[in-house]
Amino acid sequence: MTEKLWKGRFEADTAGIVEQFTASIDVDRRLYRYDIQGSIAHCRMLAKVGVISAAESEKLVAGLKGVEAEIEAGEFVYDIGLEDIHMHIEARLRETIGPVAQKLHTARSRNDQIALDLRLFLRDALAGISRGLFKFQRVLIELAKSHIDVLLPGYTHLQRAQPVRLAHHLLAYYEMARRDSDRMSDCFGRTNVMPLGAAALAGTTYPIDREYVARLLNFPTVSANSLDTVSDRDFVIEFLSAASLCMVHLSRLSEEMILWSSAEFGFIELPDAFTTGSSIMPQKKNPDVAELVRGKTGGVIGQLMAMLTTMKGLPLSYNRDLQEDKLPVFETVDTLSICLEIYSDMLPKINVRSSRMQAAAASGYQNATDLADYLVSRGMSFREAHHCAGKAVRHAMDQGKELHQLDLKSLKAFSGLIQKEVYEWLAVEQVVNRRNSAGGTGKDAVLAAIRVAEAELVLSEAGQS
Ligand code: ARG
Repeated sequence: MTEKLWKGRFEADTAGIVEQFTASIDVDRRLYRYDIQGSIAHCRMLAKVGVISAAESEKLVAGLKGVEAEIEAGEFVYDIGLEDIHMHIEARLRETIGPVAQKLHTARSRNDQIALDLRLFLRDALAGISRGLFKFQRVLIELAKSHIDVLLPGYTHLQRAQPVRLAHHLLAYYEMARRDSDRMSDCFGRTNVMPLGAAALAGTTYPIDREYVARLLNFPTVSANSLDTVSDRDFVIEFLSAASLCMVHLSRLSEEMILWSSAEFGFIELPDAFTTGSSIMPQKKNPDVAELVRGKTGGVIGQLMAMLTTMKGLPLSYNRDLQEDKLPVFETVDTLSICLEIYSDMLPKINVRSSRMQAAAASGYQNATDLADYLVSRGMSFREAHHCAGKAVRHAMDQGKELHQLDLKSLKAFSGLIQKEVYEWLAVEQVVNRRNSAGGTGKDAVLAAIRVAEAELVLSEAGQS
């Protein structure tokens, strides 16, 4: 059995099943780089304040880099008896540089150490996710620009409501992604706080310099309360929450990709490279990628619920339950990252069937509101006009025609105010382009929205780098 670093007060060995049950190395080994980065900063600080000598610090730093190289080369031997990544690294350090390794853990506890590791990991992960989101936002803008004149039905209750531009529809997802980006950078701010120095829970008797560690690790600030520091996982929950919401947006987009690529809609064709076939039905081309994004959203929301539930009953300060935070974070980072990447790759390759969209946009009486607006423009009250247009719709339905397919005489039967320019007024392009209110679907409004989106994306990207 591996000798435990905390064995002093124990007489009996840990049960084998308990070693298995308590070990987290299979999961937290992913944090090795951050653990070593944190340990190096800690060593340098200990030397700076005189708790260890400069020579000892150099030895420790070199040793830590050696261990890192071994891990990176795949030569590192893991042993479940050593519990977690912190003990693995320290134990190996002892083997490679001798007794000085035992000074590394002065003025530190695994409780503040793991808080540091996770914050360092999440800072990098958040930066990566933000880059992924920016790319996704850019893809949406480009797609909107290249399809600026494509119209399709806009839906409410999944019933055709009023025609809109495809660009406008795509920019709705841009807005969601922009808010997701904001939430990620907000979360970055609260993750970017240096916890080391809280030690086990109460701070430490050594004359440590936390600000110095923060500077070495590029943290703008240090945490304020040691009890809170080792027990706080708000930053994890905020991340999981922002990620869940982002996945919900991708899931809604997926649902539309799935609907739109069906024969019933026929609005888009998904690229071959992003679909799969059926083992039995030769004609099938399935939107599995979109379905999996939709499906994986459930898992991410589940991780958020897992962490909220884990935290809700915990007394201050550190409790071992907190060890369960790593898997939700890792899985969510991985899932969200690949989903964003896959959408950024897939969207530009989608074949937009604009004539199908356009035909659908011009049917189903989506210009009925405009007939009412036309009557209002000629002096009728909106309520009366609404009623009048409704009657015209009923009549057209009975005739198996659209409103603009009724002849002028039939239309005039509903109101003498109707003149022949009504046909131009009811044409789908006009219907869409009249909606030029800020944030609307008219061409000028959408072009303006694209300009704003492009400018703010450049700003956000510049802000991150
Ligand atoms: N593996 C532990 C975790 O992930 C590290 C901290 C352990 N601390 C302790 N007192 N057992 O939370």
